[in-house]
Amino acid sequence: MLGTGYLGATHAVCMAELGFDVLGLDVDAGKVARLSDGEVPFFEPGLEPLLRKNLATGRLAFTTSYDEVADFGDIHFLCVGTPQRTDSLAADLSYVDACIEAIVPRLTRSCVLAGKSTVPIGTAERIAAHVAQVAPAGNDVELVWNPEFLREGYAVEDTLRPDRLVFGVTSDRGEEALRAAYRPVIDSGVPVVITDLATAQLVKVAANAFLATKISFINAMAEVCEATHADVKKLSEALSHDARIGGRFLHAGLGFGGGCLPKDIRAFMARADELGVDQALSFLTEVDAINLRRRARMVDLAHELLGDSVVGRRIAILGAAFKPNSDDIRDSPALDVASRLNNAGADVVVYDPAAMDNARQRYPNLGYAGSTTEAATGAHLVLHLTEWAEFREADPAVLGEVVAACNIVDGRNALDAERWRAAGWTYRALGRP
Ligand code: UGA
Repeated sequence: MLGTGYLGATHAVCMAELGFDVLGLDVDAGKVARLSDGEVPFFEPGLEPLLRKNLATGRLAFTTSYDEVADFGDIHFLCVGTPQRTDSLAADLSYVDACIEAIVPRLTRSCVLAGKSTVPIGTAERIAAHVAQVAPAGNDVELVWNPEFLREGYAVEDTLRPDRLVFGVTSDRGEEALRAAYRPVIDSGVPVVITDLATAQLVKVAANAFLATKISFINAMAEVCEATHADVKKLSEALSHDARIGGRFLHAGLGFGGGCLPKDIRAFMARADELGVDQALSFLTEVDAINLRRRARMVDLAHELLGDSVVGRRIAILGAAFKPNSDDIRDSPALDVASRLNNAGADVVVYDPAAMDNARQRYPNLGYAGSTTEAATGAHLVLHLTEWAEFREADPAVLGEVVAACNIVDGRNALDAERWRAAGWTYRALGRP
């Protein structure tokens, strides 16, 4: 497994769980040391016990040595990150390129190189050409593409029991190698779609673009609801009963963030531009814009509830992670809103059940509290921005005792509005009267 971030570490552990011998490589020695000690360097429910179990079997190990992995692997999974470039919308392929440049010259025996990283279409073909030119084993190295669809927070479940497997191949040998690697998963009934390399790369970004579009669609409806006093939560519920539409990813609120959806739609647009099909994806500009407008709307609502000035007012922010059951704060809508309000002069206090360390590191200038109650104490306004179960279960009567004013905005449409209102709170939500 080349790269041991969310994708690589989870995949390494799950492949060992399926009975394979797995060696995970990372250039970050600290990460390798922690994983080797049975410690997952990020929050992912269920992963750590499985890591420890499989380390104990001797089937799973981690290393920083490319020589070791090149010698070890019958199949190498490329799992390194492809973040957004700092100077454009495009994907930063420097980790992919560095990894390929390190591994390919060391491939001296027959093996398969399977790309899992999310890449601009055309990257697989470029890597295949590089392999053909540079790998000492030449044609005995087969390049395949095997995109990954796991969600953070459900990574183990999604890896062991995915909705589908996609194998982008150019030969029977490549297909057979992937079928062998996923035999136990395929035997449990998971469908396999065999494609060419281009389609396999496209499936991944198309899936994330669709999910982002679905979320922005309902958030666009939320804007219309705000102008018409309609209720987006009821609207979404009514739409979801149409099986053609479906209710998943139709939750209106503060919108999407994280290390995948935002950067993937942007990289997809950048690649479409290069391919001369930018018009086909111009709607994604709107998807992105709708998403970012939700954050601005939340900041406006905070101003509205505090009588136009937030300066010196204490605002409790419930949530820092980009979604619940994660400590990932990459492009977190919650922290974006927190930081904008902080910049506007508010006294912002953030609490999150898992993402405090990451948030503190990235936003050292924000205030932090150790619990929901501590964050709410003395607050003139409470913003619910990441829908952790802990926040849904909070008692509005108890919090009502500690705040300076009973104002809450539910940025995720996840709290029981009646319960909060009954406890004396002014309850507002995005897209609801
Ligand atoms: C996403 C995809 O769901 C995975 O299939 C994909 O493998 C992954 O990206 C990736 O490319 O690696 P993830 O980023 O873990 O997974 O998070 P999601 O569960 O998709 O949530 C993304 C964001 O959308 C979150 O901020 C969430 O709060 C928001 N969201 C989700 C909504 O605002 N409304 C919804 O109805 C659903």
